[in-house]
Amino acid sequence: MKIAIGSDHAAFALKEVVRKHLIESGHDVIDMGTYTPERADYPVYGEKVAKAVVRGEVKYGVVICGTGAGISITANKVRGIRCVLASEPYTAVLSRQHNDANMLAMGARVVGEGLACMIVDQFLAAEFEGGRHADRIALIAKLDQAPDSVDTILS
Ligand code: RB5
Repeated sequence: MKIAIGSDHAAFALKEVVRKHLIESGHDVIDMGTYTPERADYPVYGEKVAKAVVRGEVKYGVVICGTGAGISITANKVRGIRCVLASEPYTAVLSRQHNDANMLAMGARVVGEGLACMIVDQFLAAEFEGGRHADRIALIAKLDQAPDSVDTILS
């Protein structure tokens, strides 16, 4: 599976662990940075990975910052992105099954290496269930198209 990964400095070490784990698992991984532990701004990497996903260059994006909050907020600003912030596998799996999440965010100051790799593995293995969930994804997509019409769309 083709996957883009990115992080800021706070998550550089965990990104390296997850990146190597994904490669060892047979995935094709594009590392979009940061490439050193020097200070780096998480929006830069959240945007890069998110745009690779919406352009169809990769199937999924994995982004990591200190908490996962900033980089997931950033990713979700990109039209077409559904990025879940997960600290345990249950949320990661359900975000695929029900929300068709196309990006996973994690916090390097929140999860350990083993847990992070487990969360990623289960996220990638889970399938979107469609059906009633697809109708809800369509509602989210309408917000992408007309963000000022939220009352109309959801009423
Ligand atoms: C960097 O110190 C930190 O703010 C960042 O990694 C992230 O946690 C932001 O949401």
